[in-house]
Amino acid sequence: MSQRTMEAHYQPNWRLTQAHGLSGYNCGYAESPGCGTFDAHQRSLVWRLIGDTPIAGDTILLDIGCGIGGPAGWIMERYGPRQVIGVEFLSSSVHAARERASTMVRAPRFIQGDAQNLPLADGSIDVIFNLESALHYPDKRAFIRECHRVLKPGGVLCLGDITTPHKRLFALAALLNRVPTQFNSNVRLWTTRDYESAFASQGLAMDWHECASKRVSDSLADGLSEIRSRGWAASAGFRARCVYLAFLEKLLRAGRLNYDLFRLRRM
Ligand SMILES: C[S@@+](CC[C@H](N)C(=O)[O-])C[C@H]1O[C@@H](n2cnc3c(N)ncnc32)[C@H](O)[C@@H]1O
Repeated sequence: MSQRTMEAHYQPNWRLTQAHGLSGYNCGYAESPGCGTFDAHQRSLVWRLIGDTPIAGDTILLDIGCGIGGPAGWIMERYGPRQVIGVEFLSSSVHAARERASTMVRAPRFIQGDAQNLPLADGSIDVIFNLESALHYPDKRAFIRECHRVLKPGGVLCLGDITTPHKRLFALAALLNRVPTQFNSNVRLWTTRDYESAFASQGLAMDWHECASKRVSDSLADGLSEIRSRGWAASAGFRARCVYLAFLEKLLRAGRLNYDLFRLRRM
């Protein structure tokens, strides 16, 4: 995986967020379909994944695959933890996240790094937040091992990812990864079961699991109609991204893809 191919995938997403005042890159979670903005749905997905995880004034929280920093900033504002660290693969996104954080009174710290080889000390983190990023990691076992390594004993991992019951079919999409275009999905999907067995073998106990596909596809439908309401001309620069999101919405609704939310505890 190179910066160039990942950048090609995320450039149109960046343009979309700029045009629509968004600061998250995730698909969102619609509590009630047809109600609420895409921005509100993206925040709801973050709160849904965190759930009742204890985050207080002494908590150190790590957001892995933090994108342009929206969720890390929202968590900082809502819970006021001691520190939020965002790790992100794309240098351009780290730069955008830092720029956004420069206006905050208490801001997260953003660093460039790889989820499969975290630049952090053993047992240094209370809560890991990882939303819609692991689908890109070629070695998810290494990523889960790293989460276990950097978490304190009893620490919590909140992980949300797109999975599929049709792994072989979606493995074909990996052929697109060889070409740096915006259709390059850079995805290597796991099944829900792959995650469950990797957690168990890596010493992470499952506290909670939700298959959120319906709520996520409702959010995408709302988001896409918000984007379309501004007209075709206003979506110049990210039309192909809208087609991609529309496909994602249909595949989630049809059960070809799932959107899994997990909360785990390091034993
Ligand atoms: C769909 S975005 C989600 C961003 C953010 N979690 C959010 O909810 O707004 C996925 C992010 O994961 C990042 N990513 C992909 N591979 C990564 C890796 N190996 N290590 C760290 N980040 C990675 C991408 O660059 C992208 O910013």
